[in-house]
Amino acid sequence: MAEIDLGALRRNAQSLRAMMAEGPRPPQMFAVVKADAYGHGAVEVARALTGGEVDGFCVALVEEGIALREAGVREPVLVLSSMSRDALGEAVARGLTPVIHDPSLVEALAAVAQRGPVGVHLKVDTGLHRMGVTLDALPEVLKRLQALRGVSVEGVMTHFANADDDDPAYCDVQLAQFARARAMLAAHGLSPKMVHAANSAAALRLEHARFDMVRMGIALYGATPFPNTAPGLLPVMRLRTEVLALREVASGEPVGYGGRWRAGRRSVIATIPIGYADGFFRRLSSEAEVLVRGARARVVGNVSMDLATVDVTELARVHGVSVGDEVVLLGNQSGPAGFGVIRSEEIAERVGTIAYEVLTALSRRVPRVHRGHG
Ligand SMILES: Cc1ncc(COP(=O)(O)O)c(C=O)c1O
Repeated sequence: MAEIDLGALRRNAQSLRAMMAEGPRPPQMFAVVKADAYGHGAVEVARALTGGEVDGFCVALVEEGIALREAGVREPVLVLSSMSRDALGEAVARGLTPVIHDPSLVEALAAVAQRGPVGVHLKVDTGLHRMGVTLDALPEVLKRLQALRGVSVEGVMTHFANADDDDPAYCDVQLAQFARARAMLAAHGLSPKMVHAANSAAALRLEHARFDMVRMGIALYGATPFPNTAPGLLPVMRLRTEVLALREVASGEPVGYGGRWRAGRRSVIATIPIGYADGFFRRLSSEAEVLVRGARARVVGNVSMDLATVDVTELARVHGVSVGDEVVLLGNQSGPAGFGVIRSEEIAERVGTIAYEVLTALSRRVPRVHRGHG
């Protein structure tokens, strides 16, 4: 079960808001809730942040935006990526703000604007080279946009390639390109009221990249893009299960598929009902640690589809371990053996990935329980 602490989420949003307010002109803050709010439940997360914690939301897909509208979310919703020609009309009809990221969308926009006024954000490729109108294509796109009736370019945006790098030099290269792009807009008589570029990492460390609005994702969920930048952030997700079965194995006995781990002594093995089909990566086999009775214990043997095995020999000897005991895979736990915390960043490092993938990999079959609706 994944427990989602909406109170912690709100506190993170408030802390981030306070950090953003340190500059001379506090930016608006949009919460990025794509991919089911990084696995936390988009509708619940959005509802929890509609008390003024954020000014709007960003999603990747039109479908994600529609789900928010159907759940009663009234704040502005920006659709960041998959904006096809067909999706454009649907997005506008649902009161979502499309991002025009490719010249091919301008023609589709003309058709949609015949039905009524449309506000859009224009995305410029300043160096990530994935999406966005290139600077070469920009003058032509601007000319065509300018000629369109009923279309207002309310925002201009870009996205950084490596704002979380130790050396943010490439951000400056991108910012220079972004300045050129904005000058081109101005030359075409376009001055969007929302200029934005920053994800969490850029918002936290590059004050000059905050502009009018920041798009805050991972930091809201309590994972820092790099250590010590925002130490007060609280992990929002706590992933827990229970000991399903316990057994003693003799020294030298193998545990799990392929017998990849063998007991080096007489050992107590706890089986837990979570596996790679839940998003507990197979790469964590004999790598991850979990919390039992407040202390760390190592996952041993191969993680299988539905189950994993944990060496609880020492804990069982000193504190006792029983079937039904809580096992925490992500988040904190206190118990007779102490207090421990496992963060998504730690799991990411063990797997060789990033916290984003750890959080979004948690599959649908893991029930989400939201607390602190407050
Ligand atoms: C365009 C865009 N902006 C903002 C974000 C949020 O990034 P982060 O989670 O690093 O804050 C993302 C996420 O990938 C994105 O694609």
